[in-house]
Parts: sequence; structure tokens; C-alpha cells
Amino acid sequence: MTTPAINADLDLAIVDAEARYIAANPRSRARHESARASLPGGSTRSVMWYPPFPVGLVWGEGSRVQDMDGHEYVDFVCEYTAGLYGHSDQVIAARIIEVLKGGIALGGPNLYEGELAAELVRRIPSLERVRFTNSGTEANIMAISTARAITGRGTVVAAREGYHGGVLTFAHGGSVLNLPFPWLMMDYNDVAGTEALLRAHADDIACVILEQMLGGGGCIRASDAFLAMLRRVTREIGAFLIFDEVMTSRLDFGAMQSVTGITPDMTTLGKYIGGGASFGAFGGSADIMDRFDPERADVFSHGGTFNNNVISMAAGHAGLTQVLTKEASARFNALGDRLRMAFQDSIDTHGVAASTTGVGSLFNVHFIPAGKVTPDAVAHVDPQPGRLWHLEMMLAGQYVTPRGMVALSLAHSDADIDGFIAAFDRFLEDYRSILPRAGGAT
Ligand SMILES: Cc1ncc(COP(=O)(O)O)c(C=O)c1O
Repeated sequence: MTTPAINADLDLAIVDAEARYIAANPRSRARHESARASLPGGSTRSVMWYPPFPVGLVWGEGSRVQDMDGHEYVDFVCEYTAGLYGHSDQVIAARIIEVLKGGIALGGPNLYEGELAAELVRRIPSLERVRFTNSGTEANIMAISTARAITGRGTVVAAREGYHGGVLTFAHGGSVLNLPFPWLMMDYNDVAGTEALLRAHADDIACVILEQMLGGGGCIRASDAFLAMLRRVTREIGAFLIFDEVMTSRLDFGAMQSVTGITPDMTTLGKYIGGGASFGAFGGSADIMDRFDPERADVFSHGGTFNNNVISMAAGHAGLTQVLTKEASARFNALGDRLRMAFQDSIDTHGVAASTTGVGSLFNVHFIPAGKVTPDAVAHVDPQPGRLWHLEMMLAGQYVTPRGMVALSLAHSDADIDGFIAAFDRFLEDYRSILPRAGGAT
């Protein structure tokens, strides 16, 4: 990658926007400073921090959140996709209250876990059986470990810039905290290179784990050819193909595998499926998953105190069966398509070196020209235009992620989408002269 040209005007614009942000958020700043005494960096989740300090949230209703200084935002963070139901879905709220009247930590099988499992099996093609966990990270650890135990092999293949959890992080060269599995890294969408890699290590590979669309890596979709190659070659070498659908399952009623048409050996889930409460799940064919059947002599053990906690199980079931219907799923994903396309139109009109990638209710704004968005380009992009965008969107009442990922919830209205389109267009209009220009001109 070439070093981005220095743009002094852009740097000054960021200083100015940051000063307005700091002046507007004294209470959030004080919360941040005081939390730093006991939480490293004032935070207990890396993605929740951004400079100069994050706003503290006190309230949420429908598609909106409010911060400690009284600003109301339309929420396009949507809890990094887990907030699919919005902030006040009445069906889910009522279900949680009803369930809580019967006690929280019952310590035995409850009435809800089997129903939630049945609903997931009904919807998602690769699932005949599932097991629940407390997070997507745990679900991925369980799926990978299951593949390693069944195949008797050790090596795990994952994509550069992929994200599968706090200890399964492959952005920017990977985290030093990653689990010490023998990892092999593939380049996302590199069909020939990845096939060669898989064949060269055929006898050692337990599984390939993949997001069909990178979430944290910039909402870049896997090509059909890449997915088809992975399905074919993993079968030929006797390795498991695991689809991490923690984020992508929201893109279709039957998860993204229903759209790509590729059925993996195992699927992992998380985020919104617990109705907004903590959640994870891993599953696959009965053949694989029945190794967790305690009546078997060769059973795999799977613990987790809160795996079947009544809140996630009951809220999750109510959400899937009564709220996230086929129609509701289609509607909010179409709304996301409308928003993404309008952003792209606005970018094209203003001639800025930016683009959008993604599908339906989940997409990313990149300050990278269209057609040049790769996982590597996203990892090495000049952060300054994105920083200005983040600050200005926040100041305009649009709650967005610093990395440009935009997620919708079922609570978003057409008016919310129109407001965001207008704010984005105003941003480009205001700053088009100092943002990098499409075609390389400055
Ligand atoms: C694709 C993907 N997999 C796994 C995870 C980890 O899920 P959790 O944060 O519930 O551990 C995430 C979280 O963002 C994710 O995006």
C-alpha cells in the first residue's frame, strides 16, 4: 500500500469537529474519566471505545438511543447487529417480564430451550441439532473444538481480517491473545491460493471457519466461487466447513447460507437470537452434534452455567416466532438495501473516493473507491476521513460505529432512513473539497 497523502485541511476539520464533540458531551467525558480508575481505558469491551471518548448511553426506545448529555440519536450501531429488535419490542419485553416471574436461575432444563432449538433447526438448512452457549466466541470455540475432536486433526484455517471472537481475531495480523491452535491463514476470496493451501495441508486440517460476509472486516461478501471451492475441497480432504453466522444470519430468514446455497458442516450463531440478551449457538447435522448426547458412551462434554438461561431462551423464541417473521426480515433488509444504495448515489454525486459494501440490513461505508475494497485495503485505509465522518454523524444525531459499519433494526422507519441519507449527503456536501476525490484527484 502507498502512504496516504497528508491532507492538512482534513486534519484541521477533525480537530474542529472533535472540539465540538467534547464541548457537547461533558457528562460522557466525566463518566469516561471516572470509569478509567477501575476499567482499563474506561471500558470493558474493546469495540466500545473510540476517540476522544465514547458517549455513555442511558436510554433506548424503538430505533433511538439517548446519551448522558441528553442527545438523542437514531441508532445505526444496533449493538453491532445484536440489537435487531430495536430497543422496546413489546413482545420480547412482555415475554421477559412474564418469564422472570417464574424465577431466573432455575438450574434444570426449562420450557424454552427446546422450542428455541426447534425454531432454529426449522429455519437454517445446516442445522439438525444445536447447542447453546453464552456468546458467539464460545460458539466458535465449541465448533472448532468439535471439528478437531471428530477429525482427529489439529489445524484450523481462517481468513485474514476475519473475526470470530475475542480470542479468534484475525484483523491486522491477528491478536496475540488468540487461542493457541495451529492456525493457517487464507486470503478471503482467493480461490486458487486457498485451494492450494488446503491441498498442501490436507492431512492436518480439521476445519475451515468463515464468515460468508466479513462483518468486522468491512462487510465484504465471499464470492460464490470461493464458497463453492471451500465446500468442494473441504469435503474432498475430510475437513469440516464451519460458517460463522453470528452476524450474517440476520440477512435472511434462513440465515445467509439460505442465500448463498452452500450448506456447511457446522454453523455458529449469536447476537440478536437471544432477543437482545447474551447468546451463542453451534450446530450441525445429527451425526456431528449427537456426540453431545449424554446417553452415548463416547459423549463430548459441553458445560456452561448460563447456556439455557431463561431470559435468552424465552426472549429468543418469542423474537424468532412472533417478531422476526419472513415478512419482517425481508422488510428491514430491503430498507438496508435502500439506505446503502442511496449512500452510494450520494458518494457518486459528490465525486468522493468512497464506497459502500454489504447486503441488506448490514453494510459498511468505506473511504476507499468502489471496486477497490478488499480486506487488505480496509485494514490499511487512511483513518482520517472515517474519523471525520464518525464525529460529524454523531454530532448530527446519527449513532454510528467508528469503522463505518451500519446495522439496521426492525424498529427503523422510512423516516429514520431518509434522515440518515440527508445527514450523509450534507456531510459529503460540506466536506467534498477536502475529502479524497474519486479518480485520485485531490
Ligand atoms: C462474525 C462474528 N463471530 C463471532 C463474534 C463473537 O461474538 P460474541 O461477541 O458474542 O462473543 C462476533 C462478534 O462481533 C462476530 O461478529
